[in-house]
Amino acid sequence: MSNSNNQKEFNIAVLPGDGVGPEVVKEAIKVLNKVSEKYQIRFNYQEGLIGAQAIYKYNSALPEETKEIVENADAILFGAVGDPAFDKDPNAKVRPEQGILQLRKLLNLYANIRPIKTYKELYSKSPLKEEIINGVDFVVIRELTGGIYFGEPRGRTENSKKAFDTCIYSDEEITRVGRIAFEMARKRRNKVTVVDKSNVLATSRLWKEVINNLHKEYSDVNLEFLYVDNAAMQIIRRPADFDVILTENMFGDILTDEASVITGSIGMLPSSSIGEKDGKRRGLFEPIHGSYPEGAGKNIANPIGTILSAADMLDFLGLDEASNAIRNAVDKTLSDGIFTMDIANENYMSCSEMGDAITSRI
Ligand code: IPM
Ligand code: MN
Repeated sequence: MSNSNNQKEFNIAVLPGDGVGPEVVKEAIKVLNKVSEKYQIRFNYQEGLIGAQAIYKYNSALPEETKEIVENADAILFGAVGDPAFDKDPNAKVRPEQGILQLRKLLNLYANIRPIKTYKELYSKSPLKEEIINGVDFVVIRELTGGIYFGEPRGRTENSKKAFDTCIYSDEEITRVGRIAFEMARKRRNKVTVVDKSNVLATSRLWKEVINNLHKEYSDVNLEFLYVDNAAMQIIRRPADFDVILTENMFGDILTDEASVITGSIGMLPSSSIGEKDGKRRGLFEPIHGSYPEGAGKNIANPIGTILSAADMLDFLGLDEASNAIRNAVDKTLSDGIFTMDIANENYMSCSEMGDAITSRI
């Protein structure tokens, strides 16, 4: 990654994808170019097609060309996938979402990290009362390559009158993501909440057993278990009580969408997906808002989720000084009263103006 002159150089795969993806990724690149200049880091960007864009050109949501780019990259900056054109045909064989699902599997990105943090400038935008969201700062760690998303067998019975999916987990899959949760809790407020449905599901009972065993190595960390239905309630009732939430793939998908509304705008939230393959650490960084097709091409999306994802990417690459510069610039921009349309009702900035505002504060 670094050459002999000690100049830092990284290969970044850039996958803008669909909807507002290209617009928000463009702003993140603007910010990265600024830190590149300021901290003398060289980024070699390689752009690849994914999602609906890739289907239109190659009839595949994750073409070979893109696979090669991501395999050889030090990190991946991702926009979004999804196109309503495909929602009309529920039997479509190729779907944009397959792009990200295949990518997670290809690179073994087994842990998805979604931090939920409130900003005081956005308190009035949250559907929850200020006293409830005051000081909320938790992280959801979602298992990302197992469970019902990938379990086999799946499909339809011969007469097509029934359909089935399989939820399956191994102890190794649970242990490796469990370690990430415990390690993270140690750097934070030392608490892990495991969300499961062990009163009903066999896989959840395995989760409970494996995590309880693993906890022996992390006995300094406080551990609790919540049933997912109850967790859905508690995340809204007392979000400030959580530190690290650890859960399986589908529960994590649902709970992170729920959690995102606490902060007042889903447009603010970054996420990281990490794992390892061929002895190399892998990381993909993306905003959690998705493709937002209604906003595409209008220059109205909030690029902060992607810009903060780029900051997480720099942490992953060991470039803490640069990542902190980005986060400080975002905080400064918000405290200067500069907002996009999802946050302000009037005098709001466009997506690209927000990118400029943050870049100029680095
Ligand atoms: C997410 C998304 C994906 C998922 C879709 C696009 C397949 O909702 O990243 O949360 O369900 O994991
Ligand atoms: Mn989701």
